[in-house]
This record gives sequence, structure tokens and C-alpha cells, in this order.
Amino acid sequence: MMAPARDALRQRALHFATTPLQALFAREPRRAEQLRFQLDGLTLDLSKQRLDVGVLTELVALAGERELTRWVEKLFAGDPVNVSEGRAAKHWQLRDLAARAPDVAEQLQRMETIVEQFFQRQWCGVRGDAVEHVINLGVGGSDLGPVMAHHALRDLPGVRSGGVSVHFVSSMDGSQLAPLLAQLDPARTVFVISSKSFITVDTLSNARTALAWLQQGLPGWSEGEIKQRHVFGVSAAPERMDAWGIPAANQLLFWDWVGGRYSVWSTIGLPIALSVGMQAFRDFLAGGHAMDQHFRGTPLMANLPVLLALTSIWNINYLDIHTRAILPYEGRLKFWPSYLEQLEMESNGKSVTRDGQGVADHTCPIIWGEVGPNAQHAFYQLLHQGTHTVACEYLLCATPSGASPELQAQHDLTLANALAQMQLMAFGDGILDDADQLPPHSRYRGGQPCTTLLLDALTPYSLGLLVALYEHKVFVEAVMWGINPFDQWGVEMGKQLATRLLPAVQGAAMPADLDGSTRALLEQIRSLREV
Ligand code: F6P
Repeated sequence: MMAPARDALRQRALHFATTPLQALFAREPRRAEQLRFQLDGLTLDLSKQRLDVGVLTELVALAGERELTRWVEKLFAGDPVNVSEGRAAKHWQLRDLAARAPDVAEQLQRMETIVEQFFQRQWCGVRGDAVEHVINLGVGGSDLGPVMAHHALRDLPGVRSGGVSVHFVSSMDGSQLAPLLAQLDPARTVFVISSKSFITVDTLSNARTALAWLQQGLPGWSEGEIKQRHVFGVSAAPERMDAWGIPAANQLLFWDWVGGRYSVWSTIGLPIALSVGMQAFRDFLAGGHAMDQHFRGTPLMANLPVLLALTSIWNINYLDIHTRAILPYEGRLKFWPSYLEQLEMESNGKSVTRDGQGVADHTCPIIWGEVGPNAQHAFYQLLHQGTHTVACEYLLCATPSGASPELQAQHDLTLANALAQMQLMAFGDGILDDADQLPPHSRYRGGQPCTTLLLDALTPYSLGLLVALYEHKVFVEAVMWGINPFDQWGVEMGKQLATRLLPAVQGAAMPADLDGSTRALLEQIRSLREV
């Protein structure tokens, strides 16, 4: 394959791997300005990355060799870009409020009708009590997007509140569900069973426990009556919701062309709308759509998802940096790192290309993170003085989400910490005059490449921009690596093995071909449970 851009990039990497970031700023007076990109209140600052405009230009040339523009057209044409499953990936269609496909518009309207009833306190349980609590039962994409957006947006100034209290349960062991059930009143509680496939055992086992709790707490009412007032289903498999006994009126649909981790824009967003209202949910969709327009129509050198992806490719494939820390300096974005972990690692954690060959380069890095100020007191020691180079991704909001003077002061403090930490990560103690007087254990080497994403303010719209930015970034990376970001075959075999092992956990004969370690662990578990 022709790869002149790749060779040129390898040459450049030799230089950038060893040049301190301070030297880049000293050499390029317009660096901060040249490497800052903006869209609608979202700023992407790449100036603390180990690259320059020349590197980005070569990376864009590489994107040309990989036919990125053609792939973007295929995505938005609804071609089956998910090749292993023969499906389109049309999550972008869910946020096109103007040109909404009729079935998409219908489901959004149904969602709105349901949400309004909850906000008006008109949705009542079997006994006639207004429902006050909604528990979403879902996992992976049927949990992480709604959890993340709910925590980011609820009670935000300007966002509707006063609906029901929304809770999220994902863990298959029931440990999140049990304490909730212990404190809630079944007569005032509704469950949303969120599962694209409606076969995910984690979610269905929680749903079974929830139904048993409802039945125990609401004696005298039939299962059908209880399901009618206390259970909703959101899925792309209506026949399975039917089989579970969810009344048609309580079913919200989406489609197989919406991947689970791309489904927050669909009716999977019901819990978000239940906590912040439909207007905020529509604003979130509008932000996502604005990013779609930008992604489709902006030259690659100014295209935010493309630049974010190419920077990531540069770090991974040319500078050998295989881990990335996600550091939001906003407590509302507590679940942003876990959301991105699934979006990026389940999408691009692949080693086989679309046509079944081994990949030529490393793909998705290891992604982890925490709310920045908390991380300062946990793992920043490693970032500042450990032995690993870690790409650091900072997410900041310029304006505070709280109105009181105290909260504004706390926000200022948070911003000062973010800015200071980024300086230290990138430049090390070289920013101080007398750093060379410090003993070795007090030195900060710097050199951690930092990306800053700055939101003018956290709003439903800006969150929509941000989520769609990353979805498209993941797609661009996948095109560059020649992989399919829309399947997840690597999660399947574990589920099959667990099904095979369950009887042995419960006391049945162990499979004959069991390895020694698993056998010994099972024996110990079984003997302890018999006591
Ligand atoms: O097991 C992985 C996965 O399939 C994810 O891709 C998905 O988001 C999650 O499980 C939940 O799946 P479902 O929505 O079908 O329950």
C-alpha cells in the first residue's frame, strides 16, 4: 500500500518525541492560536500536544490515503459500514430534528407524551398514587449514556426540574438494586427495562427481581395490571418485549442501525428526558446535530472530530503513547470517563481489519479517568513523577453551573487547578526559575501531552456537541486503522462461557474439560456456600 504520509510522519516523530513542549512554544509564537479550534462554544486546544501544524498536515494527508472523506460519505449515506453485521450506523439520524425520519419522529413523540405525564404527576401506579421514582435497568450503552447525561444536566440552571427522581441500576449481582428497593414504595415506583437486544442477562435478572418486588408489594393486583402501570421497555426487539409481557403502550422502540453505545440519542434517552424534560433532550439532540453538520462539511484541517482523532493516532502510532487519562474538571461530568471508556474501547479495541487481516498498527489506547480535582489526590503522582507517558485530556467549563457566590468561587478554584495542572503536566517544573535546585524527588519532568476541551458552559446543547464529537472521532480513528467500530464480538464468548458455568456454580457436575484454576476456585466457592 502507498504510504508516503506515514513515512514522513515517522521522520517527524523522531523530532517531536524528544523536543520539550516549552521549546515548541518558544519556536512558534503563534502556536496557541494555530492549534486552537472552535465550534459553537466548544474549544479544542491542541497546543500542548507534541505536534505542530506540519504534523497535522501530514496526518490529514494520511487520512486522504485512507479515503476518510469517502468513508464519511458512506456513514451519512446509510451504507452498511458495520460490515460484520451488515448494518448501517445511523445514530446521526436520531438528532436531525428537521429531517427526522417518520418512525424516529413517532418514537420521539411517544417519548414526549410519556415524559409529560410524569412531569405533570399524572402517571399513577396501580393504586392510583402518582409515581415519584423511576429506576432504569440497563447496562453498557443502555446505561452509561443516560447515567452520564443525567448527572451532567439535572438541576442545571435553565433546565427543567420537578419531574420524578431517576435512578440507575446496571450491576448483575443486584447490589445496586437491593438498597433502592429497600427504601422505595412499589406503589410509587416505575421501572424502565432498557436493552437494545432485550436478552442481556444483567438487565433481565434485575428486571425479574424488580417484578417480584412489585408483586410482593402490590398484592391483589395481577402481573398484567402491575406491568401496565409500573414497567416500561425500551428496545430494538419489540417481539421480546411482548414475550416479557410489556404492554405495547409501554414499549418505546429504536432500531438495529443504532449501536448500543451510540444509542443515548434514541428512546434509550428516556431517563434523561424524565429528569430534565423534553426541551433539554431536544437541545442535546440539536448539539449532536450541529456536530454532524460540522463533521460532514468542514475541511479536515479545521474539523474537530478529525483533528481529535488524528492527534490520538499521532500519539498512539507515532509517539508510542498507549494510555490516555480523561480528566473532567466539573463534578457533573463524573461519569464522562466511564462513558468514553465504552464508546472508545468497545468500538476500537480491535486487532482485525474490516477484511479480516491483522491490523498494521496499535489501535485504541487504554482509557481511564476520574474527575480531575479528585484525581489530583489519587493518581496524579504517577502522571507527574511516574515512568509512563500518558496523554491527558482535560475537560473544562468556563462558566460555573451554580449561581451562588460560594459556588462561583469554588468554580474559580477548580479552573485554577486545571490550568495549573496542565502547565505542570506539559512543561514540568521548567516553568519555575529555580527548579534545578530541587532534589530529584521533588522534580516534575513534564512532557505529558495534553488536550484541552473548553466548554463556554455546560448545557444540554454543549453536551450534545461533545458526545457527537467523540462518536465521530472514534469513527475517524477506525477508518484510519481499517477496523469496524460498530461491532463488539469480543464480548460474546464470555457470556457463553458464563452460561456454561452457571450450573456448576449452583452445584451441578463440573464440565469435564475445566482447567485446574477454574475447577479449584469453583470447588472453594461451592464448599464455602455449603457451610
Ligand atoms: O455486552 C456488550 C453489549 O452488547 C454492549 O455493546 C451494549 O451496550 C450492552 O451490552 C447492553 O446491551 P443491550 O442494550 O442489548 O442490553
